[in-house]
Amino acid sequence: MNILLTGGTGYIGSHTAVVLSQLGHKVVLFDNLSNSEETVLERLAQITKQQFPFFNGDVRDTDLLKNTLADNSIDAVIHFAGLKAVGESVAKPVDYYANNVQGTVSLLQAMQAQHIKTLVFSSSATVYGQPQYLPLDESHPTCATNPYGRSKLHIEEILNDVAISDPQWRITCLRYFNPVGAHESGLIGENPSGIPNNLMPYIAQVATRQRTELSIFGNDYPTPDGTGVRDYIHVMDLAEGHAAALNFLTQNLGWHAINIGTGKGYSVLEIARAFESVSGIKLPTIIAPRRAGDVAECYANPVKAKELLKWAARRSLNDMCASTWRFQQSAEKRENSWTHE
Ligand code: NAD
Ligand code: UD1
Repeated sequence: MNILLTGGTGYIGSHTAVVLSQLGHKVVLFDNLSNSEETVLERLAQITKQQFPFFNGDVRDTDLLKNTLADNSIDAVIHFAGLKAVGESVAKPVDYYANNVQGTVSLLQAMQAQHIKTLVFSSSATVYGQPQYLPLDESHPTCATNPYGRSKLHIEEILNDVAISDPQWRITCLRYFNPVGAHESGLIGENPSGIPNNLMPYIAQVATRQRTELSIFGNDYPTPDGTGVRDYIHVMDLAEGHAAALNFLTQNLGWHAINIGTGKGYSVLEIARAFESVSGIKLPTIIAPRRAGDVAECYANPVKAKELLKWAARRSLNDMCASTWRFQQSAEKRENSWTHE
């Protein structure tokens, strides 16, 4: 298949590009580089021994998208492009609705114009809001607790309307839990600019001494060790989940929402200990107040993915920490070599 990845040079998009190209698909990347760098393309070429066609553009540019879809004979789109920082979304809701919701509407217009009706969308477990029961299955009520989450929920609903309006559409909303880790080469991974919001990249920066200590946001949750529990999923498992979703859509019409998680939760302390064990580095930690908006526990019921996509996560917590550590060390080496050039 010829597949367009919007947000293709980003964290999850780049890993998915590797998996899809290794399965023999032609992969085309489209990104405005607002949260990624063009150098990812060189590293993707190093991993796959292939050059990916790349278009530097904004998904809100419908004409550019139309031309990109037509010129590359695209059969299906995976839509990763969007903004994803919860705190920032509270401060800048208009940017979030513009990039995420308006960007998706623009993509749908371009796809409709080119009669392309197969789409995988990057949704999030955040659409479940405060869990009413665990594990979270896809029938759990949805609820937005911030503009980022609301943008994901709006998009899911828009996509459902589109699928109802025209039964030829094939749409899967993948509700990711907590993606972490990196490609085994250490060449691509998650490299947030500024202070990381999420646990794993923060830990990685404490391990390389870019940050002095890890603040554990609360140790008085009703969880086994008092710290927050999440369903961390290796980004390569997640990438393979996208290949499985595309495969599923070749056989199935309509709109589908599917969890992408492991079904197992780990606490902040368990993650920190696992990282210490693979890196051999002791992480300085302090107990800080709870972070506003955090829930005690969140983990997936992954049965629907197993049944429909024939996919299940297979990599361990050890793999997640080891690949993060490998990427962090190689990213640091690259940065040092640029500084000394
Ligand atoms: P990322 O920021 O690394 O990748 C997103 C890419 O989209 C970036 O390369 C950015 O430059 C690009 N982009 C943003 N706005 C754009 C626009 N208007 N036009 C063109 N390109 C644009 O993020 P990621 O972690 O790879 O996330 C990918 C998707 O998955 C996002 O939609 C995100 O909301 C969703 N998601 C991520 C997580 C996570 O923890 N990483 C969890 C759940 C859902
Ligand atoms: C966050 C987002 C969520 C998004 C998800 C994607 C918030 C409130 N939620 O969720 O919408 O879908 O990322 O990955 O931002 N922690 C610490 N110290 C840190 C960082 C995190 O103790 O420095 C704890 C958190 O309290 C939480 C766990 O680590 O218990 C995981 O945090 P994080 O990686 O930010 O993910 P989520 O909170 O699940």
